[in-house]
Amino acid sequence: MSSTPGYVTPASFRRTMSHHAAAVTVVTARDVEDRPVGLTANSVTSVSLAPPLVLVCLSESSASLDVIQGTGGFAINLLGSGDSELASRFAYAEAEDRFRGVPLRSGRTGVPLLEGSIAWLECSVHQTFTAGDHVVVVGGVLEAGVGDGDPLVYHCGEYRRLCT
Ligand SMILES: Cc1cc2nc3c(=O)[nH]c(=O)nc-3n(C[C@H](O)[C@H](O)[C@H](O)COP(=O)(O)O)c2cc1C
Repeated sequence: MSSTPGYVTPASFRRTMSHHAAAVTVVTARDVEDRPVGLTANSVTSVSLAPPLVLVCLSESSASLDVIQGTGGFAINLLGSGDSELASRFAYAEAEDRFRGVPLRSGRTGVPLLEGSIAWLECSVHQTFTAGDHVVVVGGVLEAGVGDGDPLVYHCGEYRRLCT
């Protein structure tokens, strides 16, 4: 199917990009009152090896973005294949309910990490820039680790798991 240049609507762009299967993460941070904040994000990309940099694109309206920009630190928690409920919660629940009952530990940099994530990165904000209605947050990776399990994948509006 083709379309006229310049006529990509938000809906058609979203539909097309939904075919880009991506790992699901929860991006976390700690606010100035020491409360954990976080949101589900699948826009995470590795940027550079030396120095190690990653990026995540956050909506200008994201409350977590304000905290990340204010404190300068955040973590990226890669969810496991059984964590679709957590993914929905960190996308749709009220901010104060997202961490209820979720086992947490503090990373070496003090950011909240979700117990049970299959891999995690602790980052300091290296650079931010606005791109359209999102802010690209480039993080310098200070700590990184891996746990067990397969990733949760988001594809065409569904949570999926890898089949081997
Ligand atoms: C699978 C999935 C992936 C998402 N990825 C992103 C993302 O990369 N960036 C973003 O800003 N929001 C993303 N969202 C939406 C946020 O999780 C959602 O808007 C959240 O409520 C924002 O929380 P906050 O305002 O407390 O930061 C995603 C939602 C889902 C379900």
